[in-house]
Amino acid sequence: MAFIEWSEGLEIGVDAMDTEHRALVDSINQLEASLDSGEERSRTIQMVARVAREAKAHFASEEAAMANAKYPGAALHALKHQHMAAQILAFLTRYSRDTSALNGHMLKFLSDSLTHHIRNEDAIFGRWAQERAKL
Ligand SMILES: [Fe+2]
Ligand SMILES: [Fe+2]
Repeated sequence: MAFIEWSEGLEIGVDAMDTEHRALVDSINQLEASLDSGEERSRTIQMVARVAREAKAHFASEEAAMANAKYPGAALHALKHQHMAAQILAFLTRYSRDTSALNGHMLKFLSDSLTHHIRNEDAIFGRWAQERAKL
């Protein structure tokens, strides 16, 4: 069973964003599997860095989609991304200094904040975009 199971609840109904969310979830799952199997530290650091990079790219593309659509919640949403990006960066920095800093507990915290953000914040944008498409 994957660490984060993809489910309909994680789909926001905006295809490009759903695709990016899936890729991000896959990367986190691979990172978890690699930690779990005691993979070499350098390899795991690369995987944490990949999650950080993908999250950053995703936040930027989601913010661009929101700006394009003139989503009224765009500025507030971008602030939430900044907060999450800072958490991910702190996570990466801590891990590159100290391997014991990255454990299942921290990874769970990271994945919970991401899935919570998708289910709640991103989903609001998804519903708004779908309603708007009907007009
Ligand atoms: Fe978002
Ligand atoms: Fe998102």
